[in-house]
Amino acid sequence: MTGRTWSLWNREFDSPVILASGTAGFGFELMDMGYLDGVAAVISKATTLRPRKGNPPPRIVETRFGLLNSVGLANPGVEEVVTRILPEASALPVPLIVNVAGETEQEFASVVEMLEKSPVPFGYEINVSCPNVSEGGVAFGASPSTVERVSRLVGQTSSRPFSVKLTPNEGSITESALAAQEGGAGAVTVCNTFLGMTVDWRTGMIPLERKVGGYSSPALLPLTVARVHITCQAVDIPVLASGGVSRPEDVLELLAAGASMVQVGTWLMRRPGSGAELRDGVLELLEDVSP
Ligand SMILES: Cc1cc2nc3c(=O)[nH]c(=O)nc-3n(C[C@H](O)[C@H](O)[C@H](O)COP(=O)(O)O)c2cc1C
Repeated sequence: MTGRTWSLWNREFDSPVILASGTAGFGFELMDMGYLDGVAAVISKATTLRPRKGNPPPRIVETRFGLLNSVGLANPGVEEVVTRILPEASALPVPLIVNVAGETEQEFASVVEMLEKSPVPFGYEINVSCPNVSEGGVAFGASPSTVERVSRLVGQTSSRPFSVKLTPNEGSITESALAAQEGGAGAVTVCNTFLGMTVDWRTGMIPLERKVGGYSSPALLPLTVARVHITCQAVDIPVLASGGVSRPEDVLELLAAGASMVQVGTWLMRRPGSGAELRDGVLELLEDVSP
């Protein structure tokens, strides 16, 4: 170890790598395989007020350069998470951040209120990139005023720090980030997946049952770098980068753009041990450039 550390919410980590929501479950499988070495924290899959089956299959499709997913926030609901999953998650060797989604503004706070009963979460990630049912299905993150209200409601309910995960698809990411900061967020996650679709031009068949989904790909890295950079210019709270990471160089690039920590998601499905691979690679590269 080089003694290098990264910090978030008054805690020091010997790795800048966080496992992104929806790609590592609650971390149990990776823990059993010894793949949480080198990982700073795990972000759980989305937790909602009621259990959700998610979207009908097929909900993940590989395209030439990346993955399209429309999992639809499948999860057992917050009650099951608090009573069954979180007690087991206290065995994780790294902190757990719980990703929270809701269909109405109040629902985010209601989920957090239930999660507060558990001593396990290190913090929350508020996924305002999901559709806002009371406003006709547009993402919460599309409107800065909604982002601010959701952040404020969560802040009033939570004793823990939280990051607001922003969408790259609608609205201005810097205005949304500022709104999250104004509402009391302790970080912003930049950002969720990009809206995408694939269609078979011969048959007209669209493989995803929901037609459009979230696109993730290593090729999206520059889009994340740009958004991290402009968001860091706008806000004072930490920025957690998410999108396009597959190499230690990508982690360092996002840190150089201003991110406090860096998430890895889709790449983890290809290489479950990428937490340690990325962390070790980062430390080696930093060793090489140190005087
Ligand atoms: C299969 C899959 C499921 C995901 N589920 C969630 C989720 O439940 N909540 C969320 O905020 N983001 C979710 N994401 C988005 C990831 O957390 C991440 O922000 C995105 O994939 C970009 O990072 P990457 O390029 O490293 O994958 C999901 C992504 C994938 C591929």
